[in-house]
Amino acid sequence: MLSRHYALSQDGSSLSLAQATKTVPDLAPNSILIKIRAASLNYRDLLTMGDAGGTRDGLTPLSDAAGEVIAIGSSVTRWKIGDRVSPNFFPAWLGGAFSPVHLSNALGGGQTDGVLCEYLVIDQAAAVAIPDHLSFVEAATLPCAGVTAWHALFERGKLTAGETVLVQGTGGVALFGLQLAAAQGARVIVTSSSDAKLERAAALGAWKTINYKNQPDWDQAAMALTGGHGVDHILELGGPDTYDRSIAAIAPGGKIAQIGVLSGFGAQPNLTPLQFKNASINGICVGSVEHYARLNAFIAEHAIHPIVDQVFAFDEAPLAYEQLRGAGHFGKIAITFDR
Ligand SMILES: NC(=O)c1ccc[n+]([C@@H]2O[C@H](COP(=O)([O-])OP(=O)(O)OC[C@H]3O[C@@H](n4cnc5c(N)ncnc54)[C@H](OP(=O)(O)O)[C@@H]3O)[C@@H](O)[C@H]2O)c1
Repeated sequence: MLSRHYALSQDGSSLSLAQATKTVPDLAPNSILIKIRAASLNYRDLLTMGDAGGTRDGLTPLSDAAGEVIAIGSSVTRWKIGDRVSPNFFPAWLGGAFSPVHLSNALGGGQTDGVLCEYLVIDQAAAVAIPDHLSFVEAATLPCAGVTAWHALFERGKLTAGETVLVQGTGGVALFGLQLAAAQGARVIVTSSSDAKLERAAALGAWKTINYKNQPDWDQAAMALTGGHGVDHILELGGPDTYDRSIAAIAPGGKIAQIGVLSGFGAQPNLTPLQFKNASINGICVGSVEHYARLNAFIAEHAIHPIVDQVFAFDEAPLAYEQLRGAGHFGKIAITFDR
């Protein structure tokens, strides 16, 4: 059986994206065959596209998808044909402590093929059920950005009602942070370079908003908004450009979730102020199958719908990449496989 897919091919010192076909592997006893119905893009996919040295020639990109089980291996007990499922970002991180061995198996990066293909074979344990109220496109936005925000705020952050949260920008991770925290009864501050996006964030339930272009000292603005106390949880997405301000804005006992590299790798913040606040930094790397399942239970309980900015057809995948690169989006950019 053949599957249409996109391949990242070496093109001199860079990578280019083009459609191709490949043979779908045979089903192992514990594997399931998923007909992909939708996928979504993350900032990470731009990093992969830019990493010609670290990406296998011909790699199928993207980590995030949702689809339908169309065949099962002889030992499969968890799924039946017709089930709506989504693969976890780390297929082998089922639960418990993280192991660095999972890094090389993450879908759609390095050496491991991803989900921008019509048919995907994965182990039955690597999939989670899609909440009933979500479309395939909505569900396809969850595996990386949704699980990361959940892991940061709930699994490690232990977020409770009444606490304050700050998210940086209005991309995928940030808006999941906003939606999940607001549903928990937290007060969420959103920063953005765009007043129009901040208006949309306020309509989604943001408690306060700060334009970080007009107000580069957004840490001081956050301190003022919290009556000088500081913010209890910060999703640190910016990297070098934002880290010192995140540390300045964190509350005593607060938690910074180290997640993003939007302004580059290798932030070198001054960590000394953390000790005088008894505050901490949690390194976050997406999440496990257990995290994903608990995220989905919360999303179902609170009837949350992910914010999808734009949906492209399979044949338009290169345009979806361009849209993400332009950073004009609010929430997620998705690809539908339905004609
Ligand atoms: N550690 C992990 O497991 C993990 C998982 C997922 C993502 N990430 C990382 O988290 C970051 C966000 O990923 P994403 O997929 O959500 O990105 P995204 O959807 O592409 O978000 C882009 C948005 O971020 C905002 N932004 C850009 N530079 C900024 C800055 N210097 N300060 C504040 N906001 C800025 C902008 O929002 P406005 O237009 O509103 O200004 C921009 O539109 C990326 O660095 C990604 O690599 C890490």
